[in-house]
Amino acid sequence: MIRKTLLALPVALAVGVTAHADHMAENPADILRSVISEVPDSPYLTQSQQNLMMMEDNPNLWTVEDGKELFYAARGPNNVSLETCDFGKGPGVLEGAYAAMPRYFEDTGRVMDLESRLVHCMQTIQGFASDDPAVRQRHGSNSDHMKLQSYIASHSNGMAWNPPLDHPMEKAMRDAGEVMFYRRAGSLDMSCQTCHAATGKQIRASVLPNAMVPQEWTKAISWPAFRVGHQNSRSSQHRVRGCYWQMRQGQIVAGSDASIALISYWTDLARGQPAILPDLKR
Ligand code: HEC
Repeated sequence: MIRKTLLALPVALAVGVTAHADHMAENPADILRSVISEVPDSPYLTQSQQNLMMMEDNPNLWTVEDGKELFYAARGPNNVSLETCDFGKGPGVLEGAYAAMPRYFEDTGRVMDLESRLVHCMQTIQGFASDDPAVRQRHGSNSDHMKLQSYIASHSNGMAWNPPLDHPMEKAMRDAGEVMFYRRAGSLDMSCQTCHAATGKQIRASVLPNAMVPQEWTKAISWPAFRVGHQNSRSSQHRVRGCYWQMRQGQIVAGSDASIALISYWTDLARGQPAILPDLKR
């Protein structure tokens, strides 16, 4: 990866990098700038000028490219690509699919987020076992999951978050997520609200996003994102896990209905705002 980046750098400098892949109509940094122009005083969105500048060279754009290769490659015991996977808009349709997730899927009878749907397709279409590293390893820029999730999500860049709430299960999951968001528990007696329902709250130098301000929240929930502090790309499920850890509550299980419910609610809170994909975070 480092080698690839170093090799590509002189070329990028020579031709002038486009800050997004071919299939992305817009530059994520421009989308963020337009969101900021609506709330120019937002302490969360304006906390780091450097962060905004670095978005033009977001390392996750490499992860998106890696994901494109993986998506169309014949893989797994069944030696087929993921092109027949239905993310809610029809088999193989990626355009806007992620911005309309989590959603209910007939074939599984479950409301699924991007990660759980991808796991489902890798297992049922490609035949991967649940303990295969391709399926099991969910974190880090070099995991198949982060590559694939980044590629799929980038097709929703600039699109309004719009998870459907037509099916009773979609509504129930969103409502369960709302209860979880406000439910105080654990030795610190915290809920998500404790840190994410006021403007300008800080933990050390980090300004926290206010979930009640949709412009702040769309950046907050725009994952996959490259986390500069981790030097890795991270997912929504990774963020959920991190915030439960921060509250010192029991660890949440990735892909569980609880984790998906929370993501249903947090996506609903950003409804109508443009997704910034990929994003770059501290
Ligand atoms: C103790 C305070 C605290 C609580 C409680 C908390 N978080 Fe966070 N959250 C943070 C911090 C701090 C960050 C920024 C990431 C970092 O710098 O580590 C963050 C980041 C986030 C982000 C991404 C925004 C970003 O810029 O990285 C989301 C989304 C989020 N939290 C959701 C939640 C949800 C949902 C809950 C409840 C399950 C929750 N948080 C509970 C402190 C908290």
